[in-house]
Amino acid sequence: MMISQADLHRAETVLELGPGTGIVTEIILENLAQDARFMALEINPAFATATRRRCPAADVVNGDAADARKHLAARGLNGTDVVISGLPWAAFPGSLQDRILSAVQDVLRPGGRFTTFAYVQGLLLPQARRFEKRLRARFPQVRKTPVVWRNLPPAFAYVATKS
Ligand SMILES: C[S@@+](CC[C@H](N)C(=O)[O-])C[C@H]1O[C@@H](n2cnc3c(N)ncnc32)[C@H](O)[C@@H]1O
Repeated sequence: MMISQADLHRAETVLELGPGTGIVTEIILENLAQDARFMALEINPAFATATRRRCPAADVVNGDAADARKHLAARGLNGTDVVISGLPWAAFPGSLQDRILSAVQDVLRPGGRFTTFAYVQGLLLPQARRFEKRLRARFPQVRKTPVVWRNLPPAFAYVATKS
């Protein structure tokens, strides 16, 4: 659902945050345009290695999503058209939500898309509701996809567009 909402086919650059074991990375790579650039930022070295193993063609950097600008610049990239996030926002304190959202806003090009998932039952948590509030404060256009009930636990994606 996250990937189908991101219009990957018209993206020159795609950045994934928190790929974990690379399950989503695999689907991103299958849907990238031929000349598109891709980078994944994973803070945990063991998960970065797991994603590299699953997706040898992916450029997986062991780094912090909050430093996205620095890591893109190291590859000669001045921004990205799409950010796809697997980050556990509801587990982050507000200050960290803010830092990473600032980085996403900063690196997204005008018209760029940011997709990230949330668990339906997670919306009961104050941190999850705070995340949605912060997201809406930064991006004028935010929509929620239908819930994917087959996911365990059921989840949906936020799709935010930078004006
Ligand atoms: C829920 S998992 C991602 C799951 C992944 N989409 C999958 O299906 O395998 C969240 C990931 O975000 C990573 N992460 C957490 N904080 C991060 C940060 N500040 N920068 C980059 N990655 C981070 C974690 O190490 C973890 O691998």
